[in-house]
Amino acid sequence: MAPLRNFLWFCFITAVYSKSIHQYVDAKAELENYIENKIPDINPRFRPHYHVAPPVGWMNDPNGFSYYKGEYHLFYQFYPYDSIWGPMHWGHVSSPDLVHWKQLPTALLPNEEQCFSGSAVQDGDMMVLMYTGHIVSDKEPYYNETQYLAFSNDGTNFHKYSGNPVLPAAPNGSPDFRDPKVWRHGDHWYVILGSKTNDKRGRVLLYRSTDMKSWEFLTVLAESQGDMGYMWECPDFFELDGKFVLLMSPQGLVPQGDRYKNTYQNGYIIGSFNYETFEFVQEVPFQEIDFGHDFYAAQTTEVNGKRYLISWFSMWEVPHPEDVDGWAGMMTIARELKLVDGKIIMKPIDQMLVLRENVAIVGNLEENEGVEFEKAVEINIQANFNEKVELQLEGREGGDKVWLRWDSEVGKVVVDRGSDDIRQVEWQPNNSHTWRIFLDSSSLELFCGIGDVVFSSRVYPLGGWKLINLSIQDIKIEAYHLKKSFPV
Ligand code: FRU
Repeated sequence: MAPLRNFLWFCFITAVYSKSIHQYVDAKAELENYIENKIPDINPRFRPHYHVAPPVGWMNDPNGFSYYKGEYHLFYQFYPYDSIWGPMHWGHVSSPDLVHWKQLPTALLPNEEQCFSGSAVQDGDMMVLMYTGHIVSDKEPYYNETQYLAFSNDGTNFHKYSGNPVLPAAPNGSPDFRDPKVWRHGDHWYVILGSKTNDKRGRVLLYRSTDMKSWEFLTVLAESQGDMGYMWECPDFFELDGKFVLLMSPQGLVPQGDRYKNTYQNGYIIGSFNYETFEFVQEVPFQEIDFGHDFYAAQTTEVNGKRYLISWFSMWEVPHPEDVDGWAGMMTIARELKLVDGKIIMKPIDQMLVLRENVAIVGNLEENEGVEFEKAVEINIQANFNEKVELQLEGREGGDKVWLRWDSEVGKVVVDRGSDDIRQVEWQPNNSHTWRIFLDSSSLELFCGIGDVVFSSRVYPLGGWKLINLSIQDIKIEAYHLKKSFPV
């Protein structure tokens, strides 16, 4: 009897499983249909021309930033049905060069679990996603987080692993246990996860596995000693120019002067790491990686020896003026990272040059002189940074204004969105007297010098940009209109 019973049980499980797979496939097709029908309702005024944004609805963190079968892949936290945060899906784009992006079908839909942030790796021929299953309950603490896998053979269609969850609990049982970042080293897979201690100090946990299905807890890679926030989200850990970098997004840092003025921060600790003892020795304390208003949950990937970073170009708990237009949130441009003098340097990837369309202006901008641009433009500025520099950027037809300032006496660069909405930081121009500014329909990215100070801030001008030189000096300017590289 036992073999027959086992066989019937097998048939039952297979039938239930294949029914749920069919339901999942139908739900995916319905969602793609919904998105297609919704796209024409989107108001394009603030839609980016060359940054990744959701086709409709809400986007937050970058997920699964990776390279698979000749293409870059970027997934993102996605709620298609409204331009506010909701049950999380994984949206998906791919690119041959990190500049030209194509929307792909939604990769993950929530079932009993919402699909929170995570990462992607290639294992043989397969692409493997590891993400946090966030399950809401009606009892305290009202949610629980465990780690899930999903697989794909083509980089487009994903199926969830039937043995999920593969990492069912944090060592201290904390319900905050999320955002796995997986990588390969030697014969093992490693993963780090964001979590917290029982007395609410942010920490990062390190695990190891040979198959990504069963994991061994190794150590607490790093944790707050009490002054570094109550939760560390979206950790990333990588080698850069001979050092190890722990990049993460701590919640709960107390503002100190110019620092930590955003709702939450994104920054890094530099140190050394030993794969025998799993000890991360911290050498340079936490520093913010970008000094603008809208930068969070950055993720990196390494391809051909180059380390690239993309970040959510938005922030929690701030207005998102594009939400009335049917979408919210976008990504920064991809940046290449280097470590110079104990600091991460971010520079726009070289491939950004292919977006240059026509020269908008090359020449001198005199005091109080203005110049007008389309919505997508790259502006390179050379000035005498021994004197003050002040540039006003505004919409050709109104909307937001923003001021970029350099005060040589104070030694700070300032991005001022008006009404005291200021971000500023010390900068040493050294020998590089240039600013590189990327403007899109609703964003500003300012790269100072070699990229030692970078600001990413959302700004909402109407009808293209106008730049006015308010400095008491002529400024050398070279600007290019940029091609569209993202389907609007
Ligand atoms: C960071 C974050 C992650 C989480 C995701 C949910 O912005 O809170 O920790 O996985 O967003 O959307």
